[in-house]
Amino acid sequence: MATLLEQIGGEAAVDAAVDIFYKKIIADDVVQPFFANTDMDSQSRKQKLFLTTVLNGTSKGALSYMRRVHKGLVHDQGLTDVHFDAVAHHLQGTLEELEVPTDLIGQIMESVGGMRDAVLDRDEAAAA
Ligand code: HEM
Repeated sequence: MATLLEQIGGEAAVDAAVDIFYKKIIADDVVQPFFANTDMDSQSRKQKLFLTTVLNGTSKGALSYMRRVHKGLVHDQGLTDVHFDAVAHHLQGTLEELEVPTDLIGQIMESVGGMRDAVLDRDEAAAA
């Protein structure tokens, strides 16, 4: 069974998605402030990490990684569902622009949804 990463076309597809996704994020005042202190040189690497994390699915390792890297944003910068929804929306828009098949987009968005509680540092026991 091919992974989602393989199904969308591997690293090349991720590279194409990174550009589009990044432009959507920085053009959006709702989420842009969270990236104000982000090292721009490593931004592309992080966006790739974002997409490969999503495409690799919601393993326990991925969930605890998502919880760890976003914890400060939740507790110090007020990261909430509003911001999560906006990022998910930009990801969906990116995949649509790349004409990723609808059923695959559905699977990818399901994988993203599975990371919501971890990203927002909720339900610790369930994710442990
Ligand atoms: C399923 C949803 C998400 C995934 C898969 C994801 C993925 C990632 C990954 C892989 C990193 C890099 C961690 C590292 O450096 O090792 C990261 C960092 C980050 N994420 Fe997310 N993220 C998600 C949701 C969000 C949301 C909703 C926001 C805010 C609107 C956000 C803002 C950030 C910021 C600000 C960083 C840190 C950048 C820095 O180090 O300067 N993320 N995320």
